[in-house]
Amino acid sequence: MTGIRASDNFHAGLATGGPQKIWAVGGGKGGVGKSLVTANVAICLALMGNKVVVIDLDLGGANLHTCLGISIPDMTLSDYLNKRTRDLSDLVFPTKIPNISLISGAQDEMGIANLKQTHKAKILSSIKQLDANYVLLDLGAGTAFNTLDFFLAADQGVLVALPEPTSIENTYRFIKSVYHRKLKMVEELLDLGPLIDQVVNAKLSQNSTPQDLINQVLEINPTLGGKLKMEINKFRPKIIINQARTQADIDIGHSMHIICKKYFGIHLDYVGHLEYDATVWQSVKRRKPLLMEFPNSNLVSNFDQIVHNLLGFST
Ligand SMILES: Nc1ncnc2c1ncn2[C@@H]1O[C@H](COP(=O)(O)OP(=O)(O)OP(=O)(O)O)[C@@H](O)[C@H]1O
Ligand SMILES: [Mg+2]
Repeated sequence: MTGIRASDNFHAGLATGGPQKIWAVGGGKGGVGKSLVTANVAICLALMGNKVVVIDLDLGGANLHTCLGISIPDMTLSDYLNKRTRDLSDLVFPTKIPNISLISGAQDEMGIANLKQTHKAKILSSIKQLDANYVLLDLGAGTAFNTLDFFLAADQGVLVALPEPTSIENTYRFIKSVYHRKLKMVEELLDLGPLIDQVVNAKLSQNSTPQDLINQVLEINPTLGGKLKMEINKFRPKIIINQARTQADIDIGHSMHIICKKYFGIHLDYVGHLEYDATVWQSVKRRKPLLMEFPNSNLVSNFDQIVHNLLGFST
């Protein structure tokens, strides 16, 4: 993979050097506000002077372009997946917002679940070569392995949930699925398979937390246990509660943080809430990015807080 050539991408407003951070936005359920969050976090970062590329990985249901106020670009990930181009940089298109470029998602039925391992690895390595300060991934709903893998590959994985039981349940399901995926990867990386099998078969009950697993492995093999602990502790998903109408809604994020720690041993950072605001659908209807169309919306300060918190976690 050659990566992005500066000359090819001058038009796309891409930076020409420097390391970048990947932030992925996911959620167990459809329609919870993933694209809204991706687009407007991108706008906040761009307004701070960062060069941002947003990638619509909701393959099959891509609509991030609408949140950014543009129509579907001439080339999308469909062209890459169908081998009409081999270079991800061909898919980078400028938006009307300075410093934000978009790689639009596949428009056909080619779902992320169908993405082959080799394709995924190729996309990931190409993403890492994009010359931008931040690359934001808008993941599709659900827990397909590929969605989980993109979530885990990012420097920050951000979940969006609504303050309602079905969404919260799906979010826990997503966290558990992505955690198990991470565990599987660490197992393979450290060649821990037999050791973990031994622990799971002999000692762990069904209600054991990831922390129990780590403790048991530490007991049997302190060196490998230490490595396992270090890798697992890197897993710190973030959560945003969207469409909050009451203080009780806002507090759900804090409860989820506590529950994740207590019952799963997983550190879930609550990075903030977004109020329910009618300007959202008005901006969607007008096909204009929310923060650009309604700069006085209450959501501006919500997004400021969220981005501030996310940057605080970014090393
Ligand atoms: N804070 C909010 N206030 C009011 N309405 C909202 C808010 N957030 C989202 N919405 C509404 O929910 C809709 C879905 O949001 P969005 O498209 O960002 O969700 P999504 O998770 O990306 O959905 P999908 O899974 O279909 O990709 C928006 O079009 C908007 O009408
Ligand atoms: Mg979406």
